[in-house]
Amino acid sequence: MNLFKWLGLLGRISARLLQHGRPLTTLSLFVLFLGLVYGQDQAIAGKAPAKYVGPEACKTCHEDIYNNFDKSPHWKTTLDKRGGPPKQGCEACHGAAAAHIDDPGDPKNIFSFKTASAKEVNERCLECHSSGKDHMNFSRSAHSDNNLSCLSCHSAHHGLQNQSLLIKAQTNLCYTCHQKIKPQFNMPFHHRVEEGLIQCTDCHNPHGGFIGKQLRSAAARDSVCFTCHADKQGPFVFEHQPIKTEGCMACHSPHGSPNPRLIKTSNLNVLCLKCHTASTFSGASGTPDFHNQAAQYQACTICHAAIHGSNFDRHMLK
Ligand code: HEC
Ligand code: HEC
Ligand code: HEC
Ligand code: HEC
Ligand code: HEC
Ligand code: HEC
Ligand code: HEC
Ligand code: HEC
Ligand code: HEC
Ligand code: HEC
Repeated sequence: MNLFKWLGLLGRISARLLQHGRPLTTLSLFVLFLGLVYGQDQAIAGKAPAKYVGPEACKTCHEDIYNNFDKSPHWKTTLDKRGGPPKQGCEACHGAAAAHIDDPGDPKNIFSFKTASAKEVNERCLECHSSGKDHMNFSRSAHSDNNLSCLSCHSAHHGLQNQSLLIKAQTNLCYTCHQKIKPQFNMPFHHRVEEGLIQCTDCHNPHGGFIGKQLRSAAARDSVCFTCHADKQGPFVFEHQPIKTEGCMACHSPHGSPNPRLIKTSNLNVLCLKCHTASTFSGASGTPDFHNQAAQYQACTICHAAIHGSNFDRHMLK
């Protein structure tokens, strides 16, 4: 019913009420009416309780986006009735849109991700995505600290593919900002990330985590390596202490290295001798001669083969 019909109806009812000597009732009716008119004004100004219109209402003016929407994973929000209109369809992200349809020219009438700050964007998206273990640490991540938003990597409508809605395929996505990392994966020995065997996100969680360098997994710093190299986890009867105390990166470069087995130094023995000084061997009684590296350039691991730990030999010879 529009304003004029209301006015007509009100006039007729008032006349009736006055005829029957009910001026008070007539007055309260007028107050109610004024309230209604005021409410309409507020709705137009966008201050009224938010009014939701549903995604169909967007189709006429945003046809492309509307037509692509049913292929997007966010289509699912229209099927989930629990949160009601504020959690469904276009308006789950852009907010109540009745005022925008009345006056599309006023940018205040709709939430635009293009003009919003990184913080505002993240808050919006995390309304639904903060519960999963994958995202709950985003606000603590180096990415968030450096003012990245979800839209640095994702796009709601123009994603490369609907799976994960990324703006670029993964390795290149990360390289756009991490150019210094790329040469490490081009070293002679490297984890085959560029070849597609594993991904940056197998080791890192771009949404942050509890341990440093946004590494995945919670228990220990190196546990991310154990997801694929479980044989190195032990427990062993004879542990090689630095693996437990310092982790895999005491000896390996995780991305790539000029040396086989991703070893940090070109000469393996130099690596061992960083911690096991030559004097350890020469001084102690009963030390075998073959430890004299001046005489014999053999890799330590020729004999100490079980370098990650052993169940058989204290000296990790097997
Ligand atoms: C009557 C036509 C019309 C309808 C219906 C309509 N819009 Fe719009 N919308 C516009 C116009 C015009 C603009 C301004 C476009 C521009 O600035 O380039 C706009 C802009 C927007 C923007 C801001 C774009 C930006 O730059 O970030 C969003 C978001 C938006 N509309 C969402 C919606 C949603 C959601 C619906 C449905 C609930 C909807 N619109 C329905 C006409 C409409
Ligand atoms: C998951 C949250 C989300 C949902 C749901 C959503 N949008 Fe958007 N919308 C965005 C984001 C983020 C942008 C910024 C551009 C981008 O990331 O693709 C955007 C941009 C826009 C724009 C600006 C033009 C453009 O191409 O970037 C319009 C118009 C728009 N959305 C309309 C809609 C309509 C209509 C629907 C429902 C059919 C809808 N949006 C559903 C998040 C959403
Ligand atoms: C630095 C880039 C980056 C940022 C910033 C980022 N993401 Fe992601 N996101 C990714 C990548 C890459 C994947 C794919 C992960 C995979 O395939 O293992 C992903 C996957 C996802 C997924 C689907 C898979 C899953 O883990 O459930 C969701 C949902 C998601 N991101 C939401 C968000 C939200 C919400 C934000 C902002 C709070 C955000 N992302 C910020 C890079 C990013
Ligand atoms: C109203 C709740 C809601 C909001 C707000 C929301 N999402 Fe989602 N999002 C969902 C649902 C539901 C799915 C589908 C999950 C599924 O398929 O299991 C989804 C899926 C995704 C996926 C793909 C997951 C996959 O497995 O491929 C990404 C990426 C994502 N959202 C990012 C975002 C970003 C970025 C924003 C902010 C612009 C956002 N979402 C806002 C509810 C939401
Ligand atoms: C095999 C696991 C693994 C893969 C795959 C991996 N990383 Fe890493 N990355 C690590 C580890 C472990 C560290 C921590 C190194 C340290 O603390 O010495 C790290 C550190 C980093 C750092 C911090 C560097 C610094 O100097 O502080 C960045 C940035 C990074 N990685 C980006 C990437 C990118 C981009 C990719 C994909 C192209 C990638 N990583 C793939 C394990 C991995
Ligand atoms: C839009 C730019 C951008 C993109 C895209 C991006 N990053 Fe980052 N990333 C940063 C910035 C900025 C930092 C903080 C400064 C630094 O450490 O270089 C950072 C830090 C990191 C760190 C170090 C965290 C720490 O605690 O020191 C890792 C690991 C990382 N990013 C991995 C990734 C991975 C994996 C991807 C791809 C999925 C990715 N980044 C995509 C900008 C980006
Ligand atoms: C997602 C699985 C995955 C994770 C996580 C992973 N790796 Fe690997 N790693 C591999 C694969 C697969 C190979 C086989 C090498 C190849 O053929 O490219 C490999 C090979 C290696 C090699 C031997 C390289 C050579 O030249 O033979 C070392 C050393 C290594 N990884 C150390 C690590 C360390 C340290 C970590 C933790 C920072 C780690 N890996 C995490 C999958 C993984
Ligand atoms: C004390 C130094 C040291 C530490 C710490 C260390 N490694 Fe190694 N790792 C080596 C050496 C040396 C080799 C090469 C052995 C050879 O060439 O015979 C090697 C080889 C490897 C290889 C390839 C050959 C194989 O045995 O599969 C993988 C994979 C590997 N290490 C993973 C790890 C992981 C995962 C960790 C952390 C749990 C780790 N390393 C910690 C010294 C170390
Ligand atoms: C980051 C330091 C570090 C590096 C690098 C390192 N080790 Fe060790 N290693 C230790 C520590 C600490 C112990 C425990 C010492 C102890 O119990 O007296 C140990 C123990 C050993 C033992 C057993 C000694 C014993 O008395 O039980 C052998 C054998 C050994 N390392 C060989 C090597 C070899 C070979 C390399 C090179 C591939 C190497 N280590 C690299 C720190 C290191
Ligand atoms: C030819 C084989 C061989 C080579 C090469 C070798 N070791 Fe040993 N190493 C042994 C044997 C055997 C023992 C045990 C001696 C014993 O029973 O007391 C031993 C013992 C050790 C111990 C324990 C010493 C102690 O006092 O308890 C350390 C540490 C060690 N080696 C480190 C190294 C390092 C570092 C290198 C390389 C620079 C190396 N070894 C090269 C065979 C070798």
